[in-house]
Amino acid sequence: MGAQKALYVTGDMSQSSDPERVVRMAVEQLGGLDILVLNHIGSTPFAMWNGDGDHVRELMQLNFLSYVNMASAALPVLEQSAGSMIVVSSLLGKITTPFVGPYAATKFAVNGFFGSMQHELAMQRSNVSLTITTLGLIDTDSAMDKIRGYTNMTAYPASDAALHIIKAGATHQNESFYPGYIYFACLCRDWFPFFRDIIIQNSYTY
Ligand SMILES: *[C@@H]1O[C@H](CO)[C@@H](O)[C@H](O)[C@H]1NC(C)=O
Ligand SMILES: *[C@@H]1O[C@H](CO)[C@@H](O)[C@H](O)[C@H]1NC(C)=O
Ligand SMILES: *[C@@H]1O[C@H](CO)[C@@H](O)[C@H](O)[C@H]1NC(C)=O
Repeated sequence: MGAQKALYVTGDMSQSSDPERVVRMAVEQLGGLDILVLNHIGSTPFAMWNGDGDHVRELMQLNFLSYVNMASAALPVLEQSAGSMIVVSSLLGKITTPFVGPYAATKFAVNGFFGSMQHELAMQRSNVSLTITTLGLIDTDSAMDKIRGYTNMTAYPASDAALHIIKAGATHQNESFYPGYIYFACLCRDWFPFFRDIIIQNSYTY
């Protein structure tokens, strides 16, 4: 996007101390923060639940607890710049589908935690904006490899998703949805549960 300079800090989000360290080092190198995008996720099987509780614990650290730690470390710094935080979540943090138990659990946790934080920031009249973005199926290589053969759902371009995420944060939306129909899926979620579940279950082969 035309940046004059880019820096990187490496970290392992499965380690409990790295999320905070990455934010601290970024702040040291950049002299502050304007925007924090929380977008990383760990790998998880697309399959029937197999009883692997350790995997759920690891994925919670990667997809959820590291977000909490990064956000907590960044908030005081973002206040200094009246900055923005963007949390990338998923339709699977709002509606459940088969074969994604551990992933859906982490995204429901993300929505619960950051939804609550949004209220607190609003009540404190904070100058930090917090955007929660809800994505549908995006055509990243890892997602496409996983679902091949299980579903014919349309995947949307990753580059459009990335632009959507940045725009939603820069314009201080508190919620955003990509692709747009995801918003209607969320609105309709509890209206017709019987038909919803038939549609969901018929969208996947087993
Ligand atoms: C944002 O709010 C914080 C806390 O109220 C304050 O310390 C900070 O100066 C504000 N920043 C800007 C850029 O207004
Ligand atoms: C969402 O944004 C509106 C203003 O655009 C604000 O009034 C409302 O309190 C926000 N909701 C939350 C949960 O922050
Ligand atoms: C996807 O489309 C193919 C070819 O039309 C069909 O054989 C398959 O059953 C479909 N899979 C699902 C999950 O709908």
